[in-house]
Amino acid sequence: MRFDVITLFPAQFAALTEEGVVARALQRRIASIHLRTPRDYTTDAHRTVDDRPYGGGPGMVMRYKPLRAAIEAAQAEAASEGVESRVAYLSPQGERLDQRRIERISAAPGWVLVAGRYEGVDERLIEDCVDEEWSVGDYVLSGGELAAMVVMDAVIRLLPGALGHADSARQDSYSTGLLDCPHYTRPERIGDKGVPTVLLSGDHQAIERWRLQQALGRTWQRRPELLQRRGMSEVEQQLLDDYLREAARLQPRVGSEQSE
Ligand SMILES: C[S@@+](CC[C@H](N)C(=O)[O-])C[C@H]1O[C@@H](n2cnc3c(N)ncnc32)[C@H](O)[C@@H]1O
Repeated sequence: MRFDVITLFPAQFAALTEEGVVARALQRRIASIHLRTPRDYTTDAHRTVDDRPYGGGPGMVMRYKPLRAAIEAAQAEAASEGVESRVAYLSPQGERLDQRRIERISAAPGWVLVAGRYEGVDERLIEDCVDEEWSVGDYVLSGGELAAMVVMDAVIRLLPGALGHADSARQDSYSTGLLDCPHYTRPERIGDKGVPTVLLSGDHQAIERWRLQQALGRTWQRRPELLQRRGMSEVEQQLLDDYLREAARLQPRVGSEQSE
């Protein structure tokens, strides 16, 4: 899979490309990231990429022509490798990304990501060159670089061979429509806290059942709307009922002291 990123700050991407899961995937040629700055596509002596907004007001706006030229150069280079790339602009006004969207993005052969700065890009660029607008959340970042890195990290770790264990991504939160179960590692005891005994039992079926039950319970407690959207089998409903009964037994009833 190929990513081309149009950015004024290519050095920022070292955070993604120099270590960790994504860096390893790049080394193994599971994915590639190509950085390109619109400054290289300017025609004036000062290599100007931004200008004042029409109508006045604070801030600057990224200019149409250098961005368009950079996008077209990226698409042409991708095409020379047989990759047809669509164009996405990272924007707080875009569609808010979730795991389902990330999976869909990972199915395409290539993307050109446009990272904005200042007040954003000239609106006509979005109209003429952008296929999709993506937001990483309802808050405003100073630039699209971090947002582009968030997307590439979430996508590349899903690609076959990117993670050490093929099942890791499948068990993560959201991939099954549920939050992940809790995890434990050595030591077996920390102060008065042990590890759930089932995890020490060696009974793989019981461990799988416990993990599913924890995932259902957590999702019900923290993100009930996910569970509603996903639905549950009869077995899962039974596991959740047992989880909730146990949780109610372990937790002192709120307000019981006042009423007694
Ligand atoms: C300071 S922001 C511009 C915000 C813009 N004036 C607005 O209010 O919609 C500069 C750039 O950061 C990026 N950005 C900021 N917040 C983002 C978010 N939540 N998701 C994706 N990109 C974001 C965009 O590329 C944007 O062009």
